[in-house]
Amino acid sequence: MIEIKEIRKSFGRLEVLKGFDFSLSEGKITAVLGPNGSGKTTLIKSILGLVIPSGGEIFFDGKPIYKDWEYRRRIGYLPQIAKFPENLKVKELFKLIEDIRGEKGNSEPLIERFSLDSFLNKKLRQLSGGTRQKVNIVLTFMFECPVYILDEPTTGLDPIALIRFKDLILERKEQGITFLVTTHIMNLVEELADELMFLLEGQVYFRGTHSEMKEAQQEENLERAIAKILEKEYAENS
Ligand SMILES: Nc1ncnc2c1ncn2[C@@H]1O[C@H](COP(=O)(O)OP(=O)(O)OP(=O)(O)O)[C@@H](O)[C@H]1O
Ligand SMILES: [Mg+2]
Repeated sequence: MIEIKEIRKSFGRLEVLKGFDFSLSEGKITAVLGPNGSGKTTLIKSILGLVIPSGGEIFFDGKPIYKDWEYRRRIGYLPQIAKFPENLKVKELFKLIEDIRGEKGNSEPLIERFSLDSFLNKKLRQLSGGTRQKVNIVLTFMFECPVYILDEPTTGLDPIALIRFKDLILERKEQGITFLVTTHIMNLVEELADELMFLLEGQVYFRGTHSEMKEAQQEENLERAIAKILEKEYAENS
């Protein structure tokens, strides 16, 4: 699946990823956690070839990604911030992405799942934040991929949409699909993630299950366990 060796990325003098290894477990949901600015999106964009790392190697199914961009068709990507022309109607956006991809997506069941029928003829600029996110989720999941990378997927979703989204992920996982998800919502991590990786100061601070993370921090609650690490870190840096 996805294998990363010694990945490094600097933006000017800012070293965001400081050289670590990572492999994505097949058929599992891995949560990438870390404070704002810790490099989660940079890591994801590196995997997708949207950011060129300063060092290290990334492999997809054993092949270095820079030799062949074909692997990207096999990754469903939900970006943290998706930008599309505001004057497009939702149904036009679905069609546009199908045309770019050269493949018909299976959007109907997803439109139904997220109750988007009445929005299909609305322009993107008319949509609320949560509705936009539902549209982005449909765009990602209408194409079947063996792996999905979701960057803050639940932003703005109401409780019903959130439940439907979690069910969708779990259904796909049942089919053997692999997930890499970033989120600041610890409930979501506890409910969905099989494994977590915690990024701090450009390195992997922790890799394991949420129970192991709680155990390591002597906390019963994941949010508190994470907060404890960050508080120590802030105290050391201030
Ligand atoms: N294109 C860029 N040019 C310069 N700096 C960048 C660029 N992209 C990201 N950065 C910086 O790299 C660091 C890591 O950013 P990144 O977006 O990967 O963090 P993140 O972990 O996804 O944060 P968040 O939780 O807020 O989404 C930040 O300090 C950010 O300002
Ligand atoms: Mg991010």
